[in-house]
Amino acid sequence: MHYNHSVTDEYEQYEDQFNPLHTDRQARRKRKPRLTHTPKKAVHEIVDELADETAELEGGFNTTYQPSRYEEGWLLNSLRPFYELHFIHDVLALVKGGKEASVYRCAAILDNGNAEPLLAAKVYRPRMFRQLRNDGLYREGRGVLSAEGHEVIERDRRTHRALKKKTAFGSQVAHTSWLMYEFTTLQQLYEAGAAVPRPVSASENAILMTYYGDEQIAAPILHQVRLEADELAPLFTEVLRNVEIMLQHGLIHGDLSAYNILYWEGAITLIDFPQVTGCHSNSNAYMILQRDIERICQYFAGQGLERDPATIMNYLWKHYVERRPQDVEADLSVLLAEDEG
Ligand SMILES: Nc1ncnc2c1ncn2[C@@H]1O[C@H](COP(=O)(O)OP(=O)(O)OP(=O)(O)O)[C@@H](O)[C@H]1O
Ligand SMILES: [Mg+2]
Repeated sequence: MHYNHSVTDEYEQYEDQFNPLHTDRQARRKRKPRLTHTPKKAVHEIVDELADETAELEGGFNTTYQPSRYEEGWLLNSLRPFYELHFIHDVLALVKGGKEASVYRCAAILDNGNAEPLLAAKVYRPRMFRQLRNDGLYREGRGVLSAEGHEVIERDRRTHRALKKKTAFGSQVAHTSWLMYEFTTLQQLYEAGAAVPRPVSASENAILMTYYGDEQIAAPILHQVRLEADELAPLFTEVLRNVEIMLQHGLIHGDLSAYNILYWEGAITLIDFPQVTGCHSNSNAYMILQRDIERICQYFAGQGLERDPATIMNYLWKHYVERRPQDVEADLSVLLAEDEG
């Protein structure tokens, strides 16, 4: 796991410096001393300096994709571990740049247990180091995951204190935990046979996984697709099959909709799992699952397939949440004991 603080910090200084909303006096006073010590520098000089510093860090990792100066430092450093571990040798294109993460098409190295020529790298934006998504609703009942995907145990007082106080270290921990939830969920679901990307590797700032699409275009999201009439029922069933696998593992997607399902060559793939939450441990589980189911039904209704979300919700809740595997087992042993008696 590699994480280079200085580059991220520089990106933030840089972002602050050029953010037109950040011209108030208080914000300026808060800026790091390095910039306030050199007020006479022209903007282009600062940009060149930062670009030079990132160039030094590139160390042989040159990419076909030409990142903007804004993204260069954090992109190359986020993906460097994958390059060093021989998973990828090039970044080919930006698939989608978003508020919270950007996804890139990468050229894979065909060994290392990998047989796919292209891989997708989801790079979490450095902005998240400062401003985590309002994740309280989902975090309930979840532990904090370390970069290795292990739960940070309550005994680790330093980490928990930092999290509470929202120090820089604390927000790094929260950021990594958010990303590791996505990665460990992908691992779990992939092994369970769900239609999710195969997770290949994780760094503290990025996830490498199966890429859907070809050299020219990435798979569209379901929202952008007009389905054929004969695809509707099988694909709806396939979405539900995945929701059920998640529930069997005690999980709810939490942001399931036609925006987080890819469609490629007639098949669907569920993506975007950082907010995954527990169906037994989160007191908002009912509401979160209900919203997921409603959004899916809404998309399919728009395509011409009517399915009643309330009926489905009722079934799922009764079947997977109210009756946990251990409840079924307990019922069984009572039955068996009665038989014996
Ligand atoms: N494995 C993949 N293969 C191809 N494209 C992908 C893959 N994963 C994600 N994408 C594309 O990247 C987009 C963003 O990914 P994702 O939904 O995981 O991130 P996000 O957190 O929603 O980002 P944002 O909030 O910025 O939209 C997806 O809508 C999809 O277009
Ligand atoms: Mg998404």
